[in-house]
Amino acid sequence: MKNIVLIGYMGAGKTTVGAVIASYSGLGFIDTDKYIVNRVHRSIKKIFEEDGEKTFRRMENRLCRFLQHQDNLVIATGGGVILNDDNMWRLKGNSVVVYIKNNIKTLYERAKKTETRPLARDYGEFIKRFVDREPLYEKYADIIINAEYKSVRDLAGEIVFAV
Ligand code: S3P
Repeated sequence: MKNIVLIGYMGAGKTTVGAVIASYSGLGFIDTDKYIVNRVHRSIKKIFEEDGEKTFRRMENRLCRFLQHQDNLVIATGGGVILNDDNMWRLKGNSVVVYIKNNIKTLYERAKKTETRPLARDYGEFIKRFVDREPLYEKYADIIINAEYKSVRDLAGEIVFAV
């Protein structure tokens, strides 16, 4: 079976929903941020602070090149994966891409809670980045799911049904 790739902004719930989709569907699960963190034994925050965003993006790109050859996976991506067109066409080759869409206030409330997101500090910048990126999430999505006011289980069920 093709992979299910979850895209969306920080705080969309890609990791949480992805794990539930995997348990419903029997597919494997990979979270690209967690994979990178485990691989280099440093938090995303540390990678950004010590090596900069560019290095993190290179790690993300390398992982996408690997994932294009995999199947039967639910893949929860980092919110910035859509910044690289090559990544997205690689992933799309073997996947259904689902954009988990939320409103910006919900996203910020969730994203700012965790220390781990270096790009979720200032609300103004958070909004600006979202406005820049939203057309890209929509461009690469095969399916767009509105997640607002839905439980994780309902959302996971809706995605399994839609793909
Ligand atoms: C990022 C999102 C984060 C993580 C990194 C950069 C982004 O992932 O990859 O902090 O550029 O949107 P989540 O979307 O899981 O928070």
